[in-house]
Amino acid sequence: MPQPLVAVIMGSKSDWETMRHCDETLTQFGVPHECRVLSAHRTPQLASQYAAEAESRGFEVIVAAAGGAAHLAGVLAAQTVLPVLGVPMESAALKGLDSLLSTVQMPGGIPVGTLAIGTPGARNAALLAIAILANSRPELREKLKRFRAEQADKVARETLP
Ligand code: RP5
Repeated sequence: MPQPLVAVIMGSKSDWETMRHCDETLTQFGVPHECRVLSAHRTPQLASQYAAEAESRGFEVIVAAAGGAAHLAGVLAAQTVLPVLGVPMESAALKGLDSLLSTVQMPGGIPVGTLAIGTPGARNAALLAIAILANSRPELREKLKRFRAEQADKVARETLP
């Protein structure tokens, strides 16, 4: 098993339908990663311990997804200096505005890089994690450039009815 470089943490199994897009994008780029459910509220000790040990376990980036009172990314970021990318889940009650605000509004000194609400955020968290890893991995940077070129090509060839 290769060393996982990205930890993809979500507050509930119910977040998986969105976060599987993060998992799929990391897999598409061949980035070893680990996906886990850990909650800032339901498993606070486990979540803190996981983040405190993440660096010594060889992780380089943490992605944290949560919805509603979405404190997970902030709680993990408080326990590590690894980059933490927050993905606000689209909540039933407030369409993810609650998740967005509670993820993004961190106090100065403990950063969380917050992505878009829902699936675009899940995909972009993976792409941003890959871009961070690519700073020291030229082969990954080449894959990112190919991905962008293919994406642009696909959009440019789009036809309308
Ligand atoms: C958050 O509460 C989770 O991240 C999830 O988005 C939301 C709802 O969780 P469940 O009640 O579906 O487990 O902690």
